[in-house]
Amino acid sequence: MSAEFPVARPRRLRRTAPLRRMVAGTRLHPGDLILPVFVKEGITEPNPVGSMPGVVQHTLDSVRKAAHDAAEAGVGGLILFGIPAVKDGRGSGADDPEGIVQRALGDVLAEVGDALVVMTDTCLDEFTHHGHCGILTPDGEVDNDATLERYASAAVSQARAGSQMIAPSGMMDGQVAAIRDALDSAGFAQVPIMGYSVKYASGFYGPFREAAECAPQFGDRSSYQQDSAGPIGEALREVRLDLAEGADAVMVKPALAYLDILRQIRDAVDVPVAAYQVSGEYAMVEAAAANGWIDRERVIMETLTAIRRAGADLILTYWATEVARRLPV
Ligand code: PBG
Repeated sequence: MSAEFPVARPRRLRRTAPLRRMVAGTRLHPGDLILPVFVKEGITEPNPVGSMPGVVQHTLDSVRKAAHDAAEAGVGGLILFGIPAVKDGRGSGADDPEGIVQRALGDVLAEVGDALVVMTDTCLDEFTHHGHCGILTPDGEVDNDATLERYASAAVSQARAGSQMIAPSGMMDGQVAAIRDALDSAGFAQVPIMGYSVKYASGFYGPFREAAECAPQFGDRSSYQQDSAGPIGEALREVRLDLAEGADAVMVKPALAYLDILRQIRDAVDVPVAAYQVSGEYAMVEAAAANGWIDRERVIMETLTAIRRAGADLILTYWATEVARRLPV
């Protein structure tokens, strides 16, 4: 028998729900949640995403409603992903002032005003016909420096359309610096950047590529996204570089398989750290729950609590509105 027992009895604090609630060390708040939304050009009805039950590609009308519902539930922010009607080699839709993201921004801002932060993902993969996150060299490699100009132009175009935070997700070297410089020159020095600083090449993005219609048409993203078995220290290096380039907040993505990395980053930096609970994490829970194999609500809360406990200040999750409604105020 331990020297401490029977005086020490950890179960005392677990005995009732009020006790457990009072001593909880990890709390979720609606304001910490960010809802990713997809909006598609030229559709008249929301289009369900097969591999993400409950998630749709929105019309310009339905995205307003989704933004309204998120704001009403107290969700902290929303991040827009656009799917253009026409794609090309340079992702022309990304910086088109009349592009789908720019138009959705106008509508969403008119709907929610200042009730939540309206952010934009800045990348090219939704806008290129080859599905890569940048423009290509003649021999089919992603051309880092040429892509930076496209990101800068897209970010300025999004800021002009009202984006309140720019989130570059393409994993090009120097993307934060290029965007910061362009935003500042265009008069948007006050628009913050949240870097997708630590982004692994991940099988967990599978359903997103259906939702955003951006699967690479050849090869994969391993030459620009991080290897899940990559060098120790690589995540921290990416974060340090983004901060030196002017990032105001950083992100780790995916979430659940990289909680160790999330904790490491949280302990190392003094800016807000976000974690992205990605499409595959969502799909796994929904699929198992649909089969009756797990308790859906319980597992959703358990995963979000784990992500928070690992150090996320902000969490991007497709369940943001639903969970915000369920959280105690
Ligand atoms: C790239 C981007 C991706 C995701 C967010 N931004 C896909 C990718 O890198 O292949 C994935 C998000 C998710 O899976 O939920 N623009």
